[in-house]
Amino acid sequence: MALRTIRIEGEDDILTKQCKPVSKMTDRTKELISDMFETMYHANGVGLAAPQVGVLRQIFVVDIGDGKRFVCINPEVTPVGDEVQTGEEGCLSVPNKEGIVTRAMKVHVKALDINMEPYEFDAEGLLARAMQHENDHLAGIMYTSLVEGELEDVEYEALEEADWEE
Ligand code: NI
Repeated sequence: MALRTIRIEGEDDILTKQCKPVSKMTDRTKELISDMFETMYHANGVGLAAPQVGVLRQIFVVDIGDGKRFVCINPEVTPVGDEVQTGEEGCLSVPNKEGIVTRAMKVHVKALDINMEPYEFDAEGLLARAMQHENDHLAGIMYTSLVEGELEDVEYEALEEADWEE
C-alpha cells in the first residue's frame, strides 16, 4: 500500500474529465483501491474518487466513520424521493475550503464491489451526500460548481478550534 498524490482543483484538469468504466478487476486496480483507502484515511476524508489520484476510472471509496467501508465501481447513484438536505461540504481536492450544497436526502446506489459483483443499497443523510459527491467526481463534476454562495475558508477556523481544545 502507498499514499497517492491528491490532485488539486485548478492545478489539474483531470478532475473535470469523464471517467471510463472498469471492465475487469486486476491486481493493479486492487492496489489502486487499497491505496485510495489509505490516502483517504491519511487525509481525514470520508470519500475519495479515482480521478482525485489521477486515474480516470469509475471507482470511488467511502467511509463516513460508521464502521462500513464502501468500494463502488461503475456506480449508479439515483435520488429517492424529493427530500433534500442543505449543508456544508468539502473535498480533498479543494483543501481548506467548504461550501453549502443542496443534495438529495436519500439515494439508491447500484455498483460493483471489489470482486466485480453487483450490489445495491439505500443511503441517506451524510452517507447519501458522500455518495452523490463522489459519484459526481466520476463525471468530472466538482462540488464547487454546485456551491450556493461563496466558498469559505476553513483553515484558520480549524486551527483556532484546535487551540481551544488544548
Ligand atoms: Ni471530492
